Amino acid sequence: MPDPVLELRGVSVVRSGSWIVADVSLRVAAGERWVVIGPNGAGKSTVLSIASTRLWPSRGSVAVLGEEIGRVDARDLRRRVGDASAALAEAVHRGLTAAEVVVSAATGALAPWWDAYSDAERARAVDLLDLVGVSALADRTFGTLSTGERQRVLLARTLMPDPDLLLLDEPAAGLDLGAREDLLDRLTALAARDRPLAIVLVTHHLEEVPPGFGHALLLSRGRVVAAGRVDDVLADGPLSAAYGLPLRVSRDAGRHTARRA
Ligand SMILES: Nc1ncnc2c1ncn2[C@@H]1O[C@H](COP(=O)(O)OP(=O)(O)O)[C@@H](O)[C@H]1O
Ligand SMILES: [Mg+2]
Repeated sequence: MPDPVLELRGVSVVRSGSWIVADVSLRVAAGERWVVIGPNGAGKSTVLSIASTRLWPSRGSVAVLGEEIGRVDARDLRRRVGDASAALAEAVHRGLTAAEVVVSAATGALAPWWDAYSDAERARAVDLLDLVGVSALADRTFGTLSTGERQRVLLARTLMPDPDLLLLDEPAAGLDLGAREDLLDRLTALAARDRPLAIVLVTHHLEEVPPGFGHALLLSRGRVVAAGRVDDVLADGPLSAAYGLPLRVSRDAGRHTARRA
C-alpha cells in the first residue's frame, strides 16, 4: 500500500485549558478527495492547520506526503501542499495584482518582492487564473476584487506549485449563489482531472460538498463522529449526532442537502 499523502494519528490540541481537537485520526491516500464537515467550532480549521504543518498538535503525530512532521524542514514540504483559507485571504497584500498573488506561490512566498520568476512561471500563473475563470483579472489588484474573485485567485494560487495535496478551508464562504455554484463546478472539475491530486475541503454546509468527493470526516466538539465513504458519513444518523438535532439528508445528482427531520 502506498504511503498516504496525509496521516493524522490521535491528534489533539489543547487551548485555554480545553481540548479543541481530541484524538482525531485521518488517513488520506493519494488522489482521494475528502470533505471535513461539522458545526461551527467543531475543530475543522484546527485540523486543517495541523495538516498544513502551520500548527503543532499537543498530542499525536502527523505525516504529510510521507514525511513525519518534526523530522523535516516544513518549509520544503509546504511547497508541495497548496492551502487556502480566510486567514490567507486576510494576509494577502491588497496592492498585489492577481497574477502576483498566484506566481508568488512558486516559492512559497505571500508576495513577489523577494524572488524573481521565470517567464514560464508567469505564464503558468496566468494559465491557472484561466483555469479558475478569472484570467481577465490578472492585472487587477487583490484589494479591488470581490470575495468570489479573491477565492478563485487563491484557488489558482494553491495550484501554482503543482501540489500533491490541496487543503481548502471553506472556499465558498461568503460567496453568492452564482459564485458558489461556479466554484463548486471548478472544484468538481479539479477532482475529475487525471492527476492524482488529493484534496481536503472544509465546509459546514452540506450543499457545498462537490460531487466527486468520495470521503468525509465529520467532526463535532473536536471529536470524530464518523469518517469514511461520503454516503455513510453524510447520512441521517451521523449528521444528527454531530449537529445535535434530528436531520434528514437527501441526495440529488451527487449533491446533498439536509433539513430537520
Ligand atoms: N487560541 C484559541 N484559544 C481558545 N480556543 C480556541 C483557540 N483557537 C480556536 N479555539 C476554539 O476551538 C474550537 C475549534 O475552532 P476551529 O477549528 O476554528 O473550528 P471550526 O473551523 O470547525 O469552526 C472553537 O470552539 C474555537 O473557539
Ligand atoms: Mg473554521
